[in-house]
Amino acid sequence: MNYLCPSILAADFWELGKQVEIVEKAGAPYLHIDVMDGMFVPSISFGMPILSCVRKRSALFMDVHMMVEKPERYIREMIQLGADGVTIHVEACDCVSETLAQIRELGAKTGLAISPETPVSAVLPYMDQVDMVLVMTVRPGFGGQDYIAECMDKIREVRRMINQSYPDVKLEIDGGVTLGNLESNLDAGADVIVTGSAIFKGDVEANVREFLRRME
Ligand code: DX5
Ligand code: ZN
Repeated sequence: MNYLCPSILAADFWELGKQVEIVEKAGAPYLHIDVMDGMFVPSISFGMPILSCVRKRSALFMDVHMMVEKPERYIREMIQLGADGVTIHVEACDCVSETLAQIRELGAKTGLAISPETPVSAVLPYMDQVDMVLVMTVRPGFGGQDYIAECMDKIREVRRMINQSYPDVKLEIDGGVTLGNLESNLDAGADVIVTGSAIFKGDVEANVREFLRRME
């Protein structure tokens, strides 16, 4: 089963509510919330106020991607405000196992992300604690970047590992995904597809429907 996960980082914030409504009505099941702290990544995006505002009006699965150093500082609040899943970066956290345990304890799904330069082996020690592995297919920090082709091998590698030993774990990819490379990413084994620019630039409803059609 595949899940489309539009990233609101690329939305028109003047129209955020309207655009989230369109995405939801068009049938996307997840919404990706990119939280950036200006430390783990160079830019600052948004955080709790946006999450809680969207949560109050939307039933979408809120997939929070924490591009934040020491994410453990914010887990509780994120989940209290309505995050359904919280993904932390293995590179950004000194206490990965404890933080994943806390996310689960608080009732949310756990995700563990690896940046393009981080090997797949970095997630291995935590596989029993994760509901989802996020393979970044661009350097985290900005929307609208080109997909890094070498990352596709990592998707295949994670898919093999999941199929062999962790069949319930989802494989999310994030960055530079377009209608043009969607199929090869699905073939490589991705099942949660994050995409920002390819959804929110242009006709949002038509873009969601086309992605969903091609993911059937
Ligand atoms: C990048 C973010 C992505 C980003 C994807 O650091 O994690 O979620 O919004 O945007 P596109 O699809 O434009 O690459
Ligand atoms: Zn993201």
